[in-house]
Amino acid sequence: MTDPILITGATAGLGRATAFALAREGNPLMLVVRDVDRGEKLASSLREAFPGVPVSVRGADLSDLSSVRSLAEDLIRDMEFPRTIVCNAGLQVVDGIQRSVDGFELTMATNVLGHVALLAPLLDHLRPGSRVVTLGSETHRGGLKAFGFPAARWPDMTTLLHPPADAPTGSSAGQVRYSTSKLACIVLAYEIDRRWKDRGVRAVSFDPGLMPATGLAREYHPAVRAIYSALTPLLVRLPGAKTVQESADDLAWLASSADAEGLMGQYVGARRAQQSSSLSYREGLGAEIWDTCVEVAGIEPVGA
Ligand SMILES: NC(=O)c1ccc[n+]([C@@H]2O[C@H](COP(=O)([O-])OP(=O)(O)OC[C@H]3O[C@@H](n4cnc5c(N)ncnc54)[C@H](OP(=O)(O)O)[C@@H]3O)[C@@H](O)[C@H]2O)c1
Repeated sequence: MTDPILITGATAGLGRATAFALAREGNPLMLVVRDVDRGEKLASSLREAFPGVPVSVRGADLSDLSSVRSLAEDLIRDMEFPRTIVCNAGLQVVDGIQRSVDGFELTMATNVLGHVALLAPLLDHLRPGSRVVTLGSETHRGGLKAFGFPAARWPDMTTLLHPPADAPTGSSAGQVRYSTSKLACIVLAYEIDRRWKDRGVRAVSFDPGLMPATGLAREYHPAVRAIYSALTPLLVRLPGAKTVQESADDLAWLASSADAEGLMGQYVGARRAQQSSSLSYREGLGAEIWDTCVEVAGIEPVGA
């Protein structure tokens, strides 16, 4: 049987739609979710819609290192190695600075650190031909292409994981923390590809475009969400915006199609390689992100 495609954050938004797009093409799936009941319900819907496509569910909270470590250990023990790992789970914190159970800033802990903690023990086990897809975003660049979202700012990885007590706490600071986490996701794909491609494991980062219909804005003030929701039919027509279905089809293609092989090692939107920001190509940035995460997650260095 073909190895499954693992997708984190499969219970909602882009992850859920991508699970359907992948199952439609007959790809076995491993859904990684923090709410196992919702994951099992999703798995039942997928099995009903696509009989014969194997779908399994694994629980993990990406913001909790012990939870992610257990998942990685279980997969290694069971020798269940995915052929693609889609690092999709993500969140935006709008109000104040929230910390994970391990004490790290929650946006970076979930979007970046948790995924490194999952990947680091697994990458050496993956078969040649395997892929990692990280979720980038034009927010990392800021400005017009990011619909006015503030660009990423990079002090250093340690400060981002441990913001000082006097760090700004307004919603714009929360947006910067999100766009910075997306910069880190893009750079991680470059770094993983650089370190593992000789072993046949390739990595790529995907920009899904602005998808106003997902739950990513769930922490915004209800009035802001209501306006956003009312404008969604107009927003999805703007250049750079997408319906969830369009992005899910592109992400499923990138995760599974042999035709996408030439795009590995790059930042990809709408099935084409894109330039990411100049900051994302800074020498040593990928190593800083990977090595700091591996160290704070307490994982033995791998793939050096
Ligand atoms: N929406 C956009 O415009 C946009 C643009 C560019 C990039 N992206 C990226 O696309 C990805 C998917 O976002 P979305 O828009 O589909 O948002 P979404 O609808 O909010 O879905 C996020 C998914 O991540 C999961 N998740 C959040 N925190 C988690 C944790 N600690 N552990 C495990 N799973 C967790 C959520 O699980 P629950 O269902 O349990 O909450 C949910 O399944 C993210 O990486 C996001 O940064 C989105």
